[in-house]
Amino acid sequence: MRRNKKRDANFAEVNPLHGKTIILGVAGGIAAYKACDIASMLRRAGADVHAVLTPNAKEFVTQLSLTTITRNTAHCEQFQAQADWKPEHIDLAKKADLILVAPATADIVAKMAAGMCDELLTTLILASSAKVMIAPAMNPKMLDHPATQNNLATLQNHYRYDLIQPDYGELACGDFGTGKMASVETIVAAVAARLLEHRTLSGKKIIVTAGGTREPIDPVRFIGNRSSGKMGIAMADAAYARGAEVTLISTVEVDRAYQVLMVETAHEMQETVEAEFDGCHALVMTAAVADFRPLGFSDQKIKKTVKEDFSLELTKNPDILDLLGRIKRDEQFIIGFAAESEELLSNAAQKLKRKNLDMIVGNDITVPDIGFGSDDNAVIILSADGSKENLPRQPKRAIAEHLCDIIAARFSELETLPTH
Ligand code: CTP
Repeated sequence: MRRNKKRDANFAEVNPLHGKTIILGVAGGIAAYKACDIASMLRRAGADVHAVLTPNAKEFVTQLSLTTITRNTAHCEQFQAQADWKPEHIDLAKKADLILVAPATADIVAKMAAGMCDELLTTLILASSAKVMIAPAMNPKMLDHPATQNNLATLQNHYRYDLIQPDYGELACGDFGTGKMASVETIVAAVAARLLEHRTLSGKKIIVTAGGTREPIDPVRFIGNRSSGKMGIAMADAAYARGAEVTLISTVEVDRAYQVLMVETAHEMQETVEAEFDGCHALVMTAAVADFRPLGFSDQKIKKTVKEDFSLELTKNPDILDLLGRIKRDEQFIIGFAAESEELLSNAAQKLKRKNLDMIVGNDITVPDIGFGSDDNAVIILSADGSKENLPRQPKRAIAEHLCDIIAARFSELETLPTH
């Protein structure tokens, strides 16, 4: 049948599976036989499916079945003589849009949580930066066991893997309970929804600021702060992965595929953010901007004086968010950050209001091991509509993903509002 090109293009727009590379990981449980149906449904929806079986999965389903259904060689062996110098599975890990593990047994869940890679599937998962989804299938007691529950919590909360909840019913072993793999239709719909969600910021221009500004005193000294830039970089990475056009304005050097504009001082940051602001849909201001700078800059290195005391006169820097909060258009979304050492809630709430922000993300800098320099943080999110949300300790990337969810929801709300 000849297909109309225009129709194909429209089809691709509405069908998030179309043209996507999906690794279907099959672990060794009785539900493995359903992997053939999942593979078939994904392929018929236009996905390029590559099955990877664990050695135990081969007891339940054959490589030949999955190769035939997916029309791609199904893999199993971790170490294989290569015709080519390049290990094929590493290529696969790089180009995958999503890895779906269905069924996920208690054993593979434990291995994934521990970061093990003693067979091909777990190796691929570690080697890939693709989104991972798991559809557990196991005996209800195994699912209920604290070890399995802890492992699933690690996968969800720490690695941000998506869990496709198992169903209640009669299991192959004859027991009743929760542990049956979700239906093939539910799994395929969850994958499609995830891929669609993944591009939720496409067409949106997002500015993120990162790092701490440096205010020069003389050619060798500056006033700085402890900001590492990790939160801003995580935010820019997350927004970019969701299809946003990202501009990162940073004091910390990073090599990324999106636009990175390097700045040093609060003034440079102000000029750069202002130049980009008009055309942006959202501004996420994670940078720690110095509130004061030395009044004068000494061209020469300041020498130790004979006096015991030395004082530096400081002058106020512009408050970038405050300025932009005054001129922002209704459809622009501004998120500020507030690192506080006391009265977190009330200080953050005041800043939210004073700077006319849509949202502020506050954290308590007195909590040890999180915040400045750490990969993790625990934050409170306050919104202009009065809502409040606590995010317990988690990786900064997970916080960034959460903020992306909020921004995307806000944009889709705006799009559904009547225009007059
Ligand atoms: N900010 C800014 N320009 C400044 C100072 C801060 O745009 N000159 C932004 C920060 O990027 C952050 C938010 O304002 O998103 C809050 O910054 P913070 O330093 O916590 O608050 P300040 O307004 O500087 O107030 P204070 O230092 O008194 O806590």
